Amino acid sequence: MSGHKPCSIVVLRGSPRASGNSDQLADRFCETAIEAHAELHDYALRDLEFSPFGEVADDHQDQLSPALNDIVQADIIVLTTPIYFCNMSGLLKGALDRFFGFLKSDYLTNPEPSILPKGKHLVLLQTQGEGEERYDALLEQYGPGLDKLGLNERHLVRACGVREPGDIQVHPTALQNVEALAKRLTAS
Ligand SMILES: Cc1cc2nc3c(=O)[nH]c(=O)nc-3n(C[C@H](O)[C@H](O)[C@H](O)COP(=O)(O)O)c2cc1C
Repeated sequence: MSGHKPCSIVVLRGSPRASGNSDQLADRFCETAIEAHAELHDYALRDLEFSPFGEVADDHQDQLSPALNDIVQADIIVLTTPIYFCNMSGLLKGALDRFFGFLKSDYLTNPEPSILPKGKHLVLLQTQGEGEERYDALLEQYGPGLDKLGLNERHLVRACGVREPGDIQVHPTALQNVEALAKRLTAS
C-alpha cells in the first residue's frame, strides 16, 4: 500500500437517453479512469429526482445532494450532454444551476467566492447532431460562472454529426480523445 489517495471523479450524465452517444463517451472516460484506479462516483441525472432551483435552502436535500457533496471532494468533474435545442440538455442545466450553492453568500464582492477547493479539473463531453462549426463555445459560454467557482481547468471533447445511439462508434476520434484525456488527468 502506497497510501497515495486515489484520484476522485464525479460524473454527471446529462442525457435523457440511456446508452446513447453521451453515455458511450462517459463510459469510455469511466473505463479508462477505473483502469487508472480512480475512485468513481457516476450519476445519471435522468434517474435522480432533484430541484433545478439554484437557490434551494442550505439544508435542502434531494437525490442530487450526494453528487454535489462528492463534487466538493472530487479532483475531476465530468459533465456529459447532448446538444438539445442549441444548448446543453435541460437535465444538465438544472444540475449546473445547483452549483450556485458552491458560491459563498457574498460571492459578488468576495475575491474568493467559491467554497470548492482549488485545482479541480472540469471536463465537458458534448455530443451533437450538427457539424463541428456549431456549439464549439458552449463550455466557455459558462466560463464566467465556472471561473467564480474556481473551475478554471476546463477540457472539452465533442462528437459532432452523431444522432442515433450507435453513431459515436463510427467516430473513434472522439472516443480516443476521451480516453487520452482520462489517462492524462488521472495520471496528474
Ligand atoms: C430533443 C432533441 C433536440 C436536439 N437538438 C439538437 C440541436 O439543436 N443541435 C444539434 O446539433 N443536435 C441536436 N440534437 C441531436 C443530439 O444532440 C444528438 O442526437 C446526440 O447525440 C444525442 O445524445 P444521446 O445519444 O446521448 O442522447 C437534438 C436531439 C434531440 C432528441
